[in-house]
Amino acid sequence: MSRTRLAVLGLIAVTLTACAPNALASPPGTESSAPSAAPSESIVAASLTISAGGVTRTFTGTELLARSDAATVAVPRDPAYGRATTYRAVPLRALLAQLPADAADTFEMRATDGFVAQLPSQLLKGAATPWIAVDDPTRPWPPLPGQTTSAGPFFLIWENAERAGISPEQWPYALASMTAVDSPVQRWPALAVDAAMPAKAPARRGQAVFMANCLACHRLAGNGEGAVGPDLLRPMPATRYLSEVGLRALIRNPAAVRKWPQQMMPAFDASVIPDADIDALIAYLRHLAARTAP
Ligand code: HEC
Repeated sequence: MSRTRLAVLGLIAVTLTACAPNALASPPGTESSAPSAAPSESIVAASLTISAGGVTRTFTGTELLARSDAATVAVPRDPAYGRATTYRAVPLRALLAQLPADAADTFEMRATDGFVAQLPSQLLKGAATPWIAVDDPTRPWPPLPGQTTSAGPFFLIWENAERAGISPEQWPYALASMTAVDSPVQRWPALAVDAAMPAKAPARRGQAVFMANCLACHRLAGNGEGAVGPDLLRPMPATRYLSEVGLRALIRNPAAVRKWPQQMMPAFDASVIPDADIDALIAYLRHLAARTAP
């Protein structure tokens, strides 16, 4: 399962986009019952902004759905909906081809609710194929499980995700923009482990695991852009007030530690973060905590 974000934040997302047709009918790719939200001018206004090579282009949902390369893409295990889905989608590589090449090695993928993934550009060119799924106002997507809003209006989905080890947190939904940027460690050197740390040190691996799975929601001492969850280093490092047992249990399944209706952090099972990577994550967080200790 991917992130289960708070319903209240979802409502903010609706307000911000002012266009997501989120009073919904059927799941993507299943029989549609009568949509409760009639298509309107505002729905048509949903747009995705892509910036690269000094150029910014804005694509409306209507424009994307009308493209000749729009296709139906089946997703066997959709991390947002937690089941098989199908979408109308356009190949992201074709959209990027309309912009100049950019030397930056990361795309910052910004959702409408504070989720900001830092996606290595290399992944977009790799063994998994990225598509931008577009919510069709005439057949709007249903709400995400336990939430009031859908994954729309735009959702980065992957064909053959397993071939490139794409994490569920690298499927940003409610996507508003993508921008070519320098890598997280270039922009926030404080996120990097000490240069002297051996190549095989677990904390080094932990840094990569954190970037792929946690940074979209959590900052570390202010470093990062995510705003869904708390800073894990400031004011007090999470490794200092949470026991190791508690921290491990929380990463595996936050609801196994404490439970409330608006819980937002997703559970990471062993297929996404194996035990050895949890060890590495904890080594990384401890390393940064020791460095920032008063
Ligand atoms: C989709 C957003 C999201 C992602 C991704 C995410 N978290 Fe969280 N996390 C949260 C939120 C929100 C909270 C606050 C509790 C809640 O609502 O579940 C939280 C709470 C925590 C806490 C407890 C902090 C406290 O003081 O209560 C820790 C530790 C933590 N996350 C670590 C991680 C780690 C490590 C990862 C990556 C493996 C991760 N989180 C990925 C959203 C996220």
